Amino acid sequence: MHLLISYIKFLFKSSNQHGVHSPFVFELVTQCFYNKKPQPEYELIRRYRKKLMKNRETIKTTDFGAGSRVFSSDDRKISAVAWNAGITPKRARLLNRLVRYLEVEKILELGTSLGISTAAMAAGNKVQIISVEGCHATASVAEKQFREFRLNNIELKVGEFERVISEQYSVNKSSKFQIPNSNSQSTIENTQPQTFDLIFIDGNHQKDPTLGYFETLLPLMHNNSLMILDDIHWSKDMEEAWEEIKMHPAVTVTIDTFYWGLVFLRREQAKEHFVIRV
Ligand SMILES: C[S@@+](CC[C@H](N)C(=O)[O-])C[C@H]1O[C@@H](n2cnc3c(N)ncnc32)[C@H](O)[C@@H]1O
Repeated sequence: MHLLISYIKFLFKSSNQHGVHSPFVFELVTQCFYNKKPQPEYELIRRYRKKLMKNRETIKTTDFGAGSRVFSSDDRKISAVAWNAGITPKRARLLNRLVRYLEVEKILELGTSLGISTAAMAAGNKVQIISVEGCHATASVAEKQFREFRLNNIELKVGEFERVISEQYSVNKSSKFQIPNSNSQSTIENTQPQTFDLIFIDGNHQKDPTLGYFETLLPLMHNNSLMILDDIHWSKDMEEAWEEIKMHPAVTVTIDTFYWGLVFLRREQAKEHFVIRV
């Protein structure tokens, strides 16, 4: 019900490229979002997803829930996981175009699942991707598919987001981000200072963890980086998280496409929030 009401509100607020005065956003919308031309890369994305949708094998998946504590384990068909958790074909194609349009080279993804979005970002693009997944069984199917489809530019890290990020990158002590089962807020040094051109957050859609990932990963963005947050209207909590992110002083341009929230830090732009139908 929440989603339906939010969607109706979105339809009233949203627009297409008309009325978008920012040249950067206008071009992004007209040349990338609305680019309907078939691209050769779409074929790999289609085959990758189809292979999973036809896979009737069962895996023991582990769900991550409140505060990203593991709360259940379940036998699920791979096809069902692909159907329920995987990005839709339309969004996969948009993700693929975004990577090319923004000339993205380095990507961090939280939430690999079976790797449909990861494959979409990798297909035909000269990128290096680090993708993080907590469920071992799901990750091993993704790993196998990456090998089969010769997607050699993907580094899959298996573990809870909080732990993997804190082991790799510095953690802001004042952030809402908590390392599970740890008494300290965080003491881990930044062992790998680097930035990403694209950060895609597609897992653990709850307010505090989402704000935590945002704050923690913000220093890993540069002026032209893009952060995409999935499911910003999923719940009232996620909508609150999205509003806080929009208000953050480092954020200038945001684009709400209903299913995604796009965040840019481009200092040369005035702060402006767009709501665009894709
Ligand atoms: C919506 S799915 C990702 C879908 C994928 N990006 C795609 O489009 O194909 C979210 C994934 O994030 C993982 N996940 C959620 N919370 C997590 C956490 N705190 N740590 C590690 N993995 C987590 C889940 O196991 C799940 O596979």
